[in-house]
Amino acid sequence: MNPPIIDIERLVGELQQLATISDCPEPPPAVTRVVFTETDLRARDYLRSLYEAAGLAVRVDAIGNTFARWEGSEPSLGAVGTGSHCDAIPHAGLYDGTVGVLGGLEAIRALQAAGFQPRRSIEVVMFTSEEPTRFGVGCTGSRLMSGAMSPADLVKLTDEVGDDYDTVRKRAGFSGDLASAKLPNGYYEAFVELHIEQGPELEANDLAIGVVTAIAAPAQADFTVTGEGGHAGAVLMPRRRDALIASAAMVSAIDSVARASKSPDMVATVGKLEVHPGAVNSIPSRVRFTLDLRDIDGANRDAVLKEIEDEVDRIAVERGVKVEHRILNADPPAISDKNVVSAAVSAAESLNLGYQEMISRAYHDSLFMARVAPMGMIFIPCRGGVSHRPDEYSSPEAIAAGVQALALTLASLTG
Ligand code: GLV
Ligand code: MN
Ligand code: MN
Repeated sequence: MNPPIIDIERLVGELQQLATISDCPEPPPAVTRVVFTETDLRARDYLRSLYEAAGLAVRVDAIGNTFARWEGSEPSLGAVGTGSHCDAIPHAGLYDGTVGVLGGLEAIRALQAAGFQPRRSIEVVMFTSEEPTRFGVGCTGSRLMSGAMSPADLVKLTDEVGDDYDTVRKRAGFSGDLASAKLPNGYYEAFVELHIEQGPELEANDLAIGVVTAIAAPAQADFTVTGEGGHAGAVLMPRRRDALIASAAMVSAIDSVARASKSPDMVATVGKLEVHPGAVNSIPSRVRFTLDLRDIDGANRDAVLKEIEDEVDRIAVERGVKVEHRILNADPPAISDKNVVSAAVSAAESLNLGYQEMISRAYHDSLFMARVAPMGMIFIPCRGGVSHRPDEYSSPEAIAAGVQALALTLASLTG
């Protein structure tokens, strides 16, 4: 088919409009949109209005995953899915996830405008809570849809003020049976997610499209270190069992272990540290810190995780503190489906867009969709590879190219 025409002004306008729905103290392009907040609900309303204007049938499941369906001529066949997420970490940019949701919608509108009639239905999904901000674990929507997490495990998750997942989702208006969110077998014939690369390769190689062949294996853990608090003036150094000093040694050891790994894809991040009681003149008695650990090789990731746990335990003994570990998730990597990859490659070739096959180092809901559907992803470049920052940026041309490639990929997968 001819290249579908993307209304890039409309799409960029919608991305910018969505970015105004934010809790970030800074104005857009800085965005904060945390799951099940008032702001998240307003963003969902905005999306629904766009879906309905495009004539799509909207369905919301028990956890708030939102499906907007363009019915195919054979609606009983497995659908072709696309989409991503609209939640945003604190002080994020405006493209992470949203390009896949609004871009998925625009791909459908472009196919509709081109007179394309899909055989299989095409569905845009907005997954609930891809980001781990509120409950510590990311991709809760796609974990539940794919069966990667059971409802029983989901409701054990709590947010920072101790409210559990079930209470929070119900308060936000999502009240169905969580078990019903699991997709029936064969629901999707294929799933393909459009996303900004969040890394520098495409820009460095001057390429428009990345066709993802695998998604790296992510793990998250947290550590609680307990020492002994006391008066900052009165407790002399030899008597101290400072939880923060012990944690500092542990954080530094984590970095060293990851750097020493034989795998170039191994990355470790401690992004959050809570110090108790958090007073200038009080020795820290308790510290909680998080660990985000990833590698494309799941076995190596697990080996490094074990090594980190051993180091943390050793340092705790050395410093006279106690440490508790909690592994929140340790997911295997996902491999893209050959047919979805070749549909995306053919789309890029037919549009004369430079492309490369590549690994996704960030995780995405597609990591879990791969468990229930043949999965693929299309990446577009973002400036300097920057993401999870307000200065994240993809140009209108880059977005338009990605949406065109997505539209052709969806069209070819609908059969
Ligand atoms: C997703 O946002 C990730 O952290 O990879
Ligand atoms: Mn993100
Ligand atoms: Mn994302």
